[in-house]
Amino acid sequence: MIHSSEFTFKMTGFCQRPQDDWYSYALNLNYPVIEESTLQFLETWGLLTRPKRILELGCGFGLMSYRLLSVLPESTLTGIDYNGKNEEVFKKFTNKSEVGKRFTFLTGNVTELLPALNQTYDWIIVDVDKKYYPELFLHLPEKLNTGGYLIADNVLWKGWVTRPGEKKNPEPIRKWNELAFSHDGFETILLPVGDGLTIMRKK
Ligand SMILES: C[S@@+](CC[C@H](N)C(=O)[O-])C[C@H]1O[C@@H](n2cnc3c(N)ncnc32)[C@H](O)[C@@H]1O
Repeated sequence: MIHSSEFTFKMTGFCQRPQDDWYSYALNLNYPVIEESTLQFLETWGLLTRPKRILELGCGFGLMSYRLLSVLPESTLTGIDYNGKNEEVFKKFTNKSEVGKRFTFLTGNVTELLPALNQTYDWIIVDVDKKYYPELFLHLPEKLNTGGYLIADNVLWKGWVTRPGEKKNPEPIRKWNELAFSHDGFETILLPVGDGLTIMRKK
């Protein structure tokens, strides 16, 4: 049976799925990559809002970066990840493609690199270890352009966010959602796409 997100992918065909061996590489390592339904939603959201400058916190191997840059030919993306080997993987699989030239990889902990960035962005995507979410929130509004979008993944965290006492600690994600919906400077929605997305538009 064909999975619904796979069917949608085939129907929309926004871009060619990057090399299957790239996905296989990630799967073999059991590396947490972004869900297909989330990617398809963000591609659509990108086409509607046309961000010029994107910042992705926790870019991993750059799978999301690659997909977004593929549908947004006028965009650039800066990805941050503390695993420096991920940049080599991205380069290996994008093989110096045109998309790769619009991608900048910064190696380091986002808690240190984010406050030091001296640019602002049209989109900021948060996809790091959940424990960092509340701390990052302190620095994010000032890094976003007015009318820009702050997008956070895993805000439902497989439902653990609603189940206190389970072994995964949902507190940082709960805190993120509270901060997101109580901040006067943003209009915020939460969508049950993939593992849950908050999308916050800076007023
Ligand atoms: C869920 S994976 C990201 C998946 C990626 N966005 C994609 O498109 O497939 C989370 C990534 O965040 C990185 N990460 C987690 N906490 C971080 C931190 N504090 N600073 C930098 N990178 C971090 C991990 O190394 C990992 O690659």
